[in-house]
Amino acid sequence: MSLDISKYSGNSGPAGSVQPPHGGPQDVMQGRNPDMPIPMPMMVRAEGIHMWDEQGNEYIDLSSGPIVSNIGHGVKSVGEAIANQINTLDFAYSRVARHQPNIDFSAQVTRLAGPGFERVCFSSGGTEAIETAIKFLRQYTIAKGQPMRKHVISCMPSYHGGTFSALSWSGDTELGDFLDGMVVPTHKVPAPFTYRQPENYTAESYAQHCADALRDKIKELGEQNVLAFMIEPIGGVATGCNVPPDSYIHKVRKICNESGVYLVFDEVMSGAGRSGKFMAAHYWPDALPDVSVMAKGLGSGYAPVGATLFSAKMSDWLANQRGFDFTHTYTANPVICAAGKAVLDYTEANDLMSNAARMGEYLCEQLNTLKETQPLIGNVRGRGLLMSVELVANQEVKTSLPGESKAADRVRIHGMNNGLMIYSRRTNGGMFGDWLIVAPPLSVTQNECDEIIKRLSATLKDLNNDLVKLGLLVN
Ligand SMILES: Cc1ncc(COP(=O)(O)O)c(C=O)c1O
Repeated sequence: MSLDISKYSGNSGPAGSVQPPHGGPQDVMQGRNPDMPIPMPMMVRAEGIHMWDEQGNEYIDLSSGPIVSNIGHGVKSVGEAIANQINTLDFAYSRVARHQPNIDFSAQVTRLAGPGFERVCFSSGGTEAIETAIKFLRQYTIAKGQPMRKHVISCMPSYHGGTFSALSWSGDTELGDFLDGMVVPTHKVPAPFTYRQPENYTAESYAQHCADALRDKIKELGEQNVLAFMIEPIGGVATGCNVPPDSYIHKVRKICNESGVYLVFDEVMSGAGRSGKFMAAHYWPDALPDVSVMAKGLGSGYAPVGATLFSAKMSDWLANQRGFDFTHTYTANPVICAAGKAVLDYTEANDLMSNAARMGEYLCEQLNTLKETQPLIGNVRGRGLLMSVELVANQEVKTSLPGESKAADRVRIHGMNNGLMIYSRRTNGGMFGDWLIVAPPLSVTQNECDEIIKRLSATLKDLNNDLVKLGLLVN
């Protein structure tokens, strides 16, 4: 199969034409790179790890969209749970009424999250859930008589969401000129990279350096003024699924304890089983965060669901003081709660978290084997089924591919030609590398993993040939 870009990209019609493009009035609202129009297949059906477009072409959903489709596509029990809920009680506003789906879903999420996370607040996605975490901590510290605690420290690079405030907590030097003056970046410390750390550092010594940077930053700001340190314990798209050394998590927990700063884990991507455990935090049981956030896989694409988890100790104390006070219209609405519960029921019934751990290990081994014959692969990293492949021009010295190669875009096109839907990124102008995300649904089987490797191998061969032909890569 070979895709005709002009047919899919929605850029049809002469300049100045008022004809709607291929996808109608919505089409121009989705991000487009005019230098490299990327095909946009019209998807019509999906099942398991597979998707089909209107022409009958089949694709493997290699990255579960943007790491969303945890349980895979087309799970009928989730559709039925959503339909039943809509037909029974479609909506009840969480500020003025209780409902059973919220009670049941809360009980399930807090049971899976375990001690330290006995209370939960649901929202409509990752950004809302992140904002809820910080709004809660702000109200909590004010109630405790510490109104000076306002600073949020986070990592460079990182991503914590798309609103103006979540962007200010995110570590991205290339946000776009339209945000200049609108988003005021908060304080950043380096992310504990394990592959592309500066010269003369090992992963372990760089983790120490990054933890020291946090301690110094808290000191510089005055610890009484710092509210929270927010990290993705296993990175997402901003770091290409970086997994810090265990020592780093223990060190930042200790630093936060010593300074009274609250530790927030952004598990929007890594939560809900994707890492092989319900929360990545469960890999470090002695260094749990004060607040944890998840989204994406929690609704698995069936419904927009986010969750912010707190300890009973903090939440119940605040409830008795002034109460946590902030909702969005769709906070914990019956339909997202019913959908989320059905997703987790399916996850538990099919033991998908253990499967994620097993298949993650298997895929990681196979990707490392592929690396031996595919020089574009510089590094394979991640945990469970949250992995990335970093693309390089030279494996030995880890040279990044030139910016003009637009490798992260190009690999998506070659992926589609080889039956793979790929999520890939070059963030911060490529300062930290280019990577593609390997994160199929948690239901993936070993045979399907083998098929993924076959298609990825063909994709990277095509990318390699393309870059050599363009004179952007020496073979
Ligand atoms: C780590 C992380 N935090 C927060 C968000 C924001 O989530 P949402 O897009 O659901 O608002 C994302 C989204 O990609 C993410 O990856």
